[in-house]
Amino acid sequence: MRASAIFGLAALALLAAGCEDSTQNTTATVTPAEPVQTPVERGRYLVAFGGCIDCHTPGYFMGMPDMTRLLGGSEVGFEIPGLGVFHGPNLTPDMETGLGSWTEEQIVTAVTKGMRPDGRELAPIMPWRGFANLTRTDSMAIAAFLKSLPPVSNKVPGPFAQGATPTSFVMRIIPPPGGAPARP
Ligand code: HEC
Repeated sequence: MRASAIFGLAALALLAAGCEDSTQNTTATVTPAEPVQTPVERGRYLVAFGGCIDCHTPGYFMGMPDMTRLLGGSEVGFEIPGLGVFHGPNLTPDMETGLGSWTEEQIVTAVTKGMRPDGRELAPIMPWRGFANLTRTDSMAIAAFLKSLPPVSNKVPGPFAQGATPTSFVMRIIPPPGGAPARP
């Protein structure tokens, strides 16, 4: 009686082991659809896709982005009617002119909530409302990538309050000759 019980248990154990083995085999043969990315690689991918390079890299709006100073800040500011002129700041980890003193958490808050560490809300040309639904993993990956960049020393001008004189190039909405058409 006892012997057959032991035999039964051993048979069960063998069965279980067999099941485990077959599961492992199945998993081993599945090829992942995407290569596994590190947070920094994922961040690089998201930053390229999110348009960040356009607004935050010198030369981009002049038709000659300076990729040696990737995300080092734009010399062209956006004039937002009623608000002022805002340049895409230096996002590299330079201590004086970039995000060197910001924590990754502060970068995530700026990108997804539009709030700087000093409490100022970012102008709406920075499309943070569009980034608000990034997953926690993705927004942290963006911060990790920005922190991994070589620091670039470049302080962008501004921000300039409405009516203040800008000191660099400005993108401005201007009416056509003959006056402004009716707004939609
Ligand atoms: C259409 C242009 C544009 C795009 C696209 C854009 N930004 Fe910005 N961003 C700006 C501007 C302009 C500011 C400054 C706004 C202000 O000072 O109120 C800014 C501010 C920021 C700030 C705050 C920095 C500081 O020093 O105050 C961070 C961080 C930031 N952007 C990250 C990103 C990231 C990451 C992406 C892409 C996922 C991105 N931005 C895409 C234009 C843009």
